[in-house]
Amino acid sequence: MAQRTLFTSLLIFLCLILFTEAHALIIGGKLQLHRHDHHSRRRHHHEHSSDLKLFVFGDSYADTGNCRNSVPGPYGITFPGKPAGRFSDGRVLTDYIAPYLGTKSPVSYKNWRKSGKRSQLKYGMNFAHGGTGVFNTLVDEPNMTTQVKFFQQLLEEKVFTKHDLNSSVALVSLAGNDYATYLVKNNSDLQGFPGLTKAIIGQLAMNLKLILDLGVPKIAVTSMEPMGCLPQLSAVYSYKNCSESLNSASKFHNQLLQQEILQTFNNESKRPVIFTLDLYSAFMSALMKKENHSGNVELKTSLQPCCVGVSKDYLCGNADKSGKKRYIVCENPKLSFFWDNIHPSQNGWHAVFSELQSSLRIIRE
Ligand SMILES: *[C@@H]1O[C@H](CO)[C@@H](O)[C@H](O)[C@H]1NC(C)=O
Ligand SMILES: *[C@@H]1O[C@H](CO)[C@@H](O)[C@H](O)[C@H]1NC(C)=O
Ligand SMILES: *[C@@H]1O[C@H](CO)[C@@H](O)[C@H](O)[C@H]1NC(C)=O
Ligand SMILES: *[C@@H]1O[C@H](CO)[C@@H](O)[C@H](O)[C@H]1NC(C)=O
Ligand SMILES: *[C@@H]1O[C@H](CO)[C@@H](O)[C@H](O)[C@H]1NC(C)=O
Ligand SMILES: *[C@@H]1O[C@H](CO)[C@@H](O)[C@H](O)[C@H]1NC(C)=O
Repeated sequence: MAQRTLFTSLLIFLCLILFTEAHALIIGGKLQLHRHDHHSRRRHHHEHSSDLKLFVFGDSYADTGNCRNSVPGPYGITFPGKPAGRFSDGRVLTDYIAPYLGTKSPVSYKNWRKSGKRSQLKYGMNFAHGGTGVFNTLVDEPNMTTQVKFFQQLLEEKVFTKHDLNSSVALVSLAGNDYATYLVKNNSDLQGFPGLTKAIIGQLAMNLKLILDLGVPKIAVTSMEPMGCLPQLSAVYSYKNCSESLNSASKFHNQLLQQEILQTFNNESKRPVIFTLDLYSAFMSALMKKENHSGNVELKTSLQPCCVGVSKDYLCGNADKSGKKRYIVCENPKLSFFWDNIHPSQNGWHAVFSELQSSLRIIRE
């Protein structure tokens, strides 16, 4: 029974991976933004920004539509008002980073492959795909290497030229699903995590090098968010505490990432080419601020997600066999940090983005 529901969830959330610590299972302000967009462009009016292209590689934290068909309602209720392939009630990280860099959230690879319109290439392209990782995960979707290969193919097909790449930035955001996959396969035993982290960082570094070699001059790569604070894991603590062991795993990942970047890419003699976006601190600060200034009586703590299944057998977005909705959405998603068990809400991403601005400013210069 539980197995079957799990399987159903897997089908619905083909692109989404969730994990639990207890029994590791795999399952998978519109106006405001424009105003911000406008301001940031006026403030930073330099020659490159108008044709800056953003190329995005990663998972559901960055995906803006490559998983379109597998994201059900109520995803997208805040923006654009219907499910549109984002794992949030609205915008995700990419949608905030793009305008800050002076461009727009780029077209998703799948949409472009379908339309083939040149006019859609103006802002770059998003190859990120929910549920994926640096290595293969439990979903049969393009891992990071494959995403970079798609990019390479487009360069070979002259869809993008070297000139296009000259003023481009790549955003890379993934690895959570690699850890989730490991937890499921190893029954939540964290013993092999350090080895896994080394493997992830090694492969990630190779992929970053490939992106640079293809001609992208700057890469922003996110560090791991505090995995232990994701609602999927904090639920066992009634959303009052984060799992320290998983947060430590995130910290270890981030430490190795930083070392690798320093040693391999940003050695003193050269200008920096890889920039880390510290998701760990950004999540933590945003959560802390929210805890302090929360006017939200409905959510017990800032770790509590807005959209949840009615029971353990269901997830946000699930329906039963008769098609009846089996999830509850909080009254005001705009006040929550987390949208579902794994993903920040639009509000959450906006808060995270605000924390990341000083790092992003350097990239823009
Ligand atoms: C990425 O996926 C492809 C296709 O499944 C596979 O051949 C390749 O080994 C994967 N790469 C990594 C690093 O896991
Ligand atoms: C890219 O920019 C560099 C200097 O920033 C310049 O030398 C080179 O000609 C440019 N290449 C193209 C194809 O625009
Ligand atoms: C974890 O699972 C993977 C895949 O089944 C396996 O290759 C690996 O050896 C396991 N690691 C540990 C520490 O059990
Ligand atoms: C949760 O955190 C509080 C302090 O914030 C601590 O006193 C308590 O022991 C923690 N509980 C668990 C289960 O870790
Ligand atoms: C930077 O590169 C130099 C050689 O070019 C090397 O000797 C040095 O160890 C490198 N530094 C780091 C931090 O890797
Ligand atoms: C939140 O409030 C606590 C206690 O009032 C304070 O110590 C902490 O600095 C505040 N954090 C933020 C991010 O405002």
